Amino acid sequence: MSRSYTFLIGSPKPSGSTSESLADHLMGRLESEGERVSKVSVRKALASEEAMNDLLDRVQSSDVIVLCFPLYYYTLPAICLEAMTLIRRRYSEKAPTQGLLAIVNQGFPEESHAEQALESCRSFCDHVSIGYIGGLVMPAGGVVNGEPLMKVRGRVRSQIKGLNMAAMDLVNGDPIGSTAAKAMARPPMSPWLYRIIANRNWKRMARKNGTMKQLKDRPYA
Ligand SMILES: Cc1cc2nc3c(=O)[nH]c(=O)nc-3n(C[C@H](O)[C@H](O)[C@H](O)COP(=O)(O)O)c2cc1C
Repeated sequence: MSRSYTFLIGSPKPSGSTSESLADHLMGRLESEGERVSKVSVRKALASEEAMNDLLDRVQSSDVIVLCFPLYYYTLPAICLEAMTLIRRRYSEKAPTQGLLAIVNQGFPEESHAEQALESCRSFCDHVSIGYIGGLVMPAGGVVNGEPLMKVRGRVRSQIKGLNMAAMDLVNGDPIGSTAAKAMARPPMSPWLYRIIANRNWKRMARKNGTMKQLKDRPYA
């Protein structure tokens, strides 16, 4: 029997987020396997009580929740933390039986940066009695920049492979396998090249904003 999935898009961006591109790809794969999928923007849900109630209802009636978010300061964006608090409040009345998959994308190439965020997701699952299905990390998520994955497939072949494998794990009711997680976490470009490009962009932005002389400031040191 097919299962139902609610994808929570946790990027605060109004449109064009990598979180949504990753979600869309996985949703497409699940649909092609006969699974039922729906998508909710956490940012929009937090804007009205009605929309938040809709999110909470969907979460409660789904078999699987897929939380897709960007890494913000080594953790989840505040909107995700707020939604998780509301979900926990609702679930204190009725314990759900679903599973949760976390998909995080981040700017930096090192997968380890997302460890704390995934730990928070796992701990959230423990608190609300949801099974933790697994976590997928995509480094250098900026290479997607809201484009459909198939459009930028030359850069994200490994992530496409990882998501496709994760879809099959989900369909089979298995935890996310390490092969899927490894493929997802393979940096789309070499870390040294990433740093050269990131440093160049950082300096370009500083020149544009007249803050070149402040680049080495350490206000909290
Ligand atoms: C406020 C803020 C904090 C961020 N913190 C981190 C971080 O700690 N580590 C990291 O690798 N990337 C960080 N990033 C980069 C985002 O994770 C990255 O741009 C991501 O691809 C955005 O995904 P989205 O398009 O789904 O929003 C941060 C970005 C912003 C705006």
